[in-house]
Amino acid sequence: MNAENLFQKSIDDKEEFWKKQAQKIDWFKFPEQILSEGENDYPQWFSDGKLNMCYLCIDKHIEDGLGNQAAIIYDSPVTGQKKTYTFNQAKEEISKLAGGLASLGLKKGDTTVIYMPMIPETLFAMLACARIGVIHNVVFGGFAPHELVVRIDDCKPKVLITATAGVEIAKRIPYLPLVEKAIELSQDKVENIIVFNRKLVDNQHEMFDGLIDYQELVEQSTAVDCVAVESTHPLYLLYTSGTTGKPKGITRDTGGYATALKFSMTKIYGVEPGETYWAASDFGWAVGHSFSVYGPLINRNTTIIFEGKPVMTPDAGTFWRIISEYKVSVMFTAPTAIRAIKKEDPNGELVKKYDLTHFKKQFLAGERCDVATLDWFQKHIGVPAIDHWWQTESGWPMLGLMTFDENYSIKRASAGKPIPGYDIKIFDENGYELDAHHEGYLVIKLPLPPGALLGIWNDDERFKKSYLSQYQGYYFSGDGAIKDEDGYVFITGRVDDVINVAGHRLSTSEMEEIVSSHPDVAECAVVGIDDELKGQVPFATVVVKNGSAISEEQMEKDIVQMVRENIGAVACLKSVMTVKRLPKTRSGKILRKLIRTLLDGREFQIPPTIDDENIIGEIQQKIQQYKV
Ligand code: COA
Ligand code: AMP
Repeated sequence: MNAENLFQKSIDDKEEFWKKQAQKIDWFKFPEQILSEGENDYPQWFSDGKLNMCYLCIDKHIEDGLGNQAAIIYDSPVTGQKKTYTFNQAKEEISKLAGGLASLGLKKGDTTVIYMPMIPETLFAMLACARIGVIHNVVFGGFAPHELVVRIDDCKPKVLITATAGVEIAKRIPYLPLVEKAIELSQDKVENIIVFNRKLVDNQHEMFDGLIDYQELVEQSTAVDCVAVESTHPLYLLYTSGTTGKPKGITRDTGGYATALKFSMTKIYGVEPGETYWAASDFGWAVGHSFSVYGPLINRNTTIIFEGKPVMTPDAGTFWRIISEYKVSVMFTAPTAIRAIKKEDPNGELVKKYDLTHFKKQFLAGERCDVATLDWFQKHIGVPAIDHWWQTESGWPMLGLMTFDENYSIKRASAGKPIPGYDIKIFDENGYELDAHHEGYLVIKLPLPPGALLGIWNDDERFKKSYLSQYQGYYFSGDGAIKDEDGYVFITGRVDDVINVAGHRLSTSEMEEIVSSHPDVAECAVVGIDDELKGQVPFATVVVKNGSAISEEQMEKDIVQMVRENIGAVACLKSVMTVKRLPKTRSGKILRKLIRTLLDGREFQIPPTIDDENIIGEIQQKIQQYKV
């Protein structure tokens, strides 16, 4: 069956289609109910099936006699370490850690927070939780304590698993002081904190009382078996930015997700079991969950844990070194990483040093991929670079190309065609489907296929409001898009307050809350402006309170520091411009889109609802004086 037929079948005969896909993974009890109404009238998949994700990723391959295959390769140019774990070795670590967690009283349905760097123990911790039905929440290691607090208070973990430090090129990021601060600030105190001591000689710092040593826990514990969980049992929560300051706890099921990942690995990425597949993402993002951990391991691919950057570790050839050294056949990264490499190695000199004969396909996602970057890639690497689109909410691609079908064809600047299961339409404001070449809202007809979000943790109302209430019977993606006559979709960007900074999804509302808490700020607007390397970066425009004597320089310094301390350095808010007034509608809404257009220096139309047109001139003048 070719890609087109596969897509049509997934829409015309959903249940039969996904039942067939579900048969490609091993269940403890195969579901009789394929598609049913869940709570909230929101459809759910395979509800009476039972399985275990850790079993699928690890034990199954050992039972099949393939325990000696490399499961995980850890390559850390920032610490000089390299290590390979077979499926047998991974099982030893994971099943004992799971035993350790059980000995602390953790059981199916409890939650944990995992705040760790790019080391194998993070993957072990995720799979150990999955083994005993504990729901994990991985928090990106670059987030500041405030972000940890929000997650701890929302998901109330019984255990927090962390490490002594992360490594950012030459810089050490000691985690324990950040964890200590988060514990202090959170309302719900975590009962147990497990720490993996990395024993980095240059990172000596105080441990605080009551910590459990990760290695001792593993050594002293007895291995435990996989627990059967219902298909709809949450495997994990992953918080992502929304349109308010509070992140949303996207809840992922087990059975639908496992089915969708197996389908993705074989049909979208086109990788065979046994090959090496590398998604260069942090574990803290959706890509890290789906395609650094669960997807490749379900498909018996060797996965790579890379602790480094695409550049400077030690140079912009590091990706090609890894691809060559481990015979990577398919790779996945964010366009920003390729832009960073292109900037350092414009003529592809470093590429020539490596044998890339095993390398078949490069996938890109996380943000829009500009044509210049695609062209550079094509010219210097010479393998297809395939853009595809997805969100934390979907957990796997929604637009892309089905590369198992060798007739796939790349259209530059497009994120591809709808993936089987995703009935994608472009709507206008009133819910009418738009013709080709008209920009509108990207929506998806319900039911979403298996693997997409179950809901928002503990917040059904917000789930409905964020995704289901805009157009009856459709999922609202929050992205704008255009379709062409061949069915290719071009993503035009977010239609809300979410921005994408170097492939990291962040909320400008959350930044505005922080900026507004400065004692001298009367009001502010944070918008994402274009950035050549990172795609977008946040920019704050502030109005100072009457009577305040703070200088513009001091204001900028304070705000930059506040955002770093509250969200983390990844927010990259480095520019703060002070203005007398913000442009608003007559009803008092800040015209953020106008501010963004002015900052980007693009052509603009004066919004008909603007309260006072003169503010536009004031802002333009200020921009000219400012170092944008
Ligand atoms: N822990 C602590 N700090 C972190 C961090 C982490 N895990 N990740 C980033 N930071 C810090 C950086 O050290 C930097 O701090 P600084 O301002 O003090 O220098 C800041 O956050 C900004 O980091 P980043 O945006 O990553 O910029 P960079 O210059 O370090 O690297 C790229 C730029 C493009 C190489 C990098 O952003 C990248 O690889 N992005 C891809 C993201 C990705 O894979 N997303 C997943 C979706 S596919
Ligand atoms: P995240 O939830 O972090 O994966 O971010 C999802 C958002 O990233 C989407 O809503 C898009 O705005 C953006 N995004 C992801 N992939 C692409 C892509 N291929 N092209 C354009 N934007 C993308």
